[in-house]
Amino acid sequence: MKSNKNSSRVLVSMLFLVIISIIPVEARKHHIRKTKSHNKSGNGDTRGSTFTAPAPAPLPDHNGSYPTPSTIFDVLSFGAKGDGVSDDSKALLAAWKAACKSAGATVEIPSESKFLIKPITLQGPCMPHLVLQIDGTILAPAKVGSWPKSSLFQWINFKWVQNFTIQGTGTVDGQGSNWWRTSQIHYIQKKSKHVPKTKPTALRFYSSYDVTVRGIKIVDSPQCHLKFDSCGGVNVSNITISSPEDSPNTDGIHLQNTHDVEIQHSSIGCGDDCVSIQTGCSNVHLHHINCGPGHGISLGGLGKDETVACVSNIVVENISVQNALSGVRIKTWQGGMGSVKNVSFTNVQVSEVKVPIMIDQFYCDKSLCQNKTRAVKISGVKYNQITGTYSERPIHLACSSEIPCTDIDLIDIQLKPSAVAAPSYRRFQKGLCWNSYGRSRAPLVPSSIDYCLKSSSRGSVKRVARSHDTGNVCN
Ligand SMILES: *[C@@H]1O[C@H](CO)[C@@H](O)[C@H](O)[C@H]1NC(C)=O
Ligand SMILES: *[C@@H]1O[C@H](CO)[C@@H](O)[C@H](O)[C@H]1NC(C)=O
Ligand SMILES: *[C@@H]1O[C@H](CO)[C@@H](O)[C@H](O)[C@H]1NC(C)=O
Ligand SMILES: *[C@@H]1O[C@H](CO)[C@@H](O)[C@H](O)[C@H]1NC(C)=O
Ligand SMILES: *[C@@H]1O[C@H](CO)[C@@H](O)[C@H](O)[C@H]1NC(C)=O
Ligand SMILES: *[C@@H]1O[C@H](CO)[C@@H](O)[C@H](O)[C@H]1NC(C)=O
Ligand SMILES: *[C@@H]1O[C@H](CO)[C@@H](O)[C@H](O)[C@H]1NC(C)=O
Ligand SMILES: *[C@@H]1O[C@H](CO)[C@@H](O)[C@H](O)[C@H]1NC(C)=O
Repeated sequence: MKSNKNSSRVLVSMLFLVIISIIPVEARKHHIRKTKSHNKSGNGDTRGSTFTAPAPAPLPDHNGSYPTPSTIFDVLSFGAKGDGVSDDSKALLAAWKAACKSAGATVEIPSESKFLIKPITLQGPCMPHLVLQIDGTILAPAKVGSWPKSSLFQWINFKWVQNFTIQGTGTVDGQGSNWWRTSQIHYIQKKSKHVPKTKPTALRFYSSYDVTVRGIKIVDSPQCHLKFDSCGGVNVSNITISSPEDSPNTDGIHLQNTHDVEIQHSSIGCGDDCVSIQTGCSNVHLHHINCGPGHGISLGGLGKDETVACVSNIVVENISVQNALSGVRIKTWQGGMGSVKNVSFTNVQVSEVKVPIMIDQFYCDKSLCQNKTRAVKISGVKYNQITGTYSERPIHLACSSEIPCTDIDLIDIQLKPSAVAAPSYRRFQKGLCWNSYGRSRAPLVPSSIDYCLKSSSRGSVKRVARSHDTGNVCN
């Protein structure tokens, strides 16, 4: 009897389980159908007659454990033309809005099509694990005049997204050449009438967390290519960024007020910093990056207009930099406050880099900036295994006269003038070193690097530094 009762209980609960597991399948199937027939409801789109057949959506696995349902929202099913001429912004926005409501959904930009997208904000919060799959090409408006005057800050703005991934084999093309040209005309002729001062960033993430970007190419942005502003938990890998060496201000990746970042296995060549790390960034790890042409990896410029800057815990390792203005650089404006601390640059291979190792606390965008006593304090910067060739000088450590750089380590630095270095540059071989304290350890090539740092007789450093030190505002 007892065992009979037990087995019937088992039977009942099994039946229950079966029913339970069937219901979600039906519910999900229904949901998928619902999203596929989206064309009628016209979610922001009115051209109902032009929809192409939707791509087949993967159904949930019929195993005992149900994986996260995944649904594909192809922009072509939302009215996109994909001809590179028609404005497909509304279709992308409609696909985004639909996908946003479904956990584990994918917005698909299919391959072999080009989608012209006007400035747009793709906004969360969305259900977790949303993916933007870019296999085709996304094009920005090519004419400067066709950008709305009110949307010059960025092209595609991801706002308030979480657990979100951009991936694929496709290309995001900022079509920036007209912006670069106009800025040159602006510079030469001072004709500011048709030239907006603000130039758009291609992809910007704002206030977003646990974001992954992988695989895609981002090319020819009007200005910065990929920006993370006020974000956390960023993982960028296997991407390519490319714009011409002479395209002005086209940073590769720009980080500000962003923490816990990993950028790896990527290739960045552009007209400005390959990676630029600005105020409010901490726990940033860059590795296996190929940078060049460009201005190298930069922390800063920090402390502009007497502002507070705080940057800490930065690791840059296993990277190569070629044909660049600098290799690894920290630049601050005079008069700033705050600190840069705990930074390491390890295994950096340079080739034809103007100045591979650089700290510039006199950063100035004019020919002359006024001297100020306050400065962003720089401490705990380690350079380890910086090797290769330079075309101007191996090292330039220009620290604030009032607040010296402290705990600077130079270990295994081997830098030789490149074959193309002008003979007149050879006199800079010694490098420029000013008010920088720390230790150096062989091998050091050129050997003069050994004399670059003053040894930290702590008392004197502290005494000099105390009066203007504002580093503690960061804690
Ligand atoms: C779109 O809507 C029309 C009529 O409203 C319908 O006949 C057609 O099957 C729908 N297309 C798709 C792909 O759902
Ligand atoms: C579903 O079950 C099949 C057969 O047992 C297995 O090969 C497959 O990996 C399972 N899928 C998932 C997502 O667990
Ligand atoms: C988002 O991703 C993070 C890191 O992968 C994870 O810890 C967190 O649980 C995820 N959140 C959701 C809602 O899935
Ligand atoms: C890197 O991205 C490319 C496409 O852009 C892809 O073909 C390749 O498989 C990716 N490699 C890795 C290791 O993910
Ligand atoms: C970042 O992504 C790469 C490649 O997908 C992965 O191997 C790595 O573990 C991720 N890092 C973090 C911190 O999630
Ligand atoms: C320095 O930064 C590294 C890498 O982010 C971190 O692991 C370490 O704890 C930091 N050290 C201090 C003293 O904060
Ligand atoms: C960088 O290279 C060193 C030496 O090959 C290796 O030990 C280290 O794990 C690498 N770092 C990363 C993040 O791959
Ligand atoms: C600023 O200080 C530097 C170093 O002491 C000096 O060479 C330079 O002339 C000063 N510049 C101005 C504008 O006073």
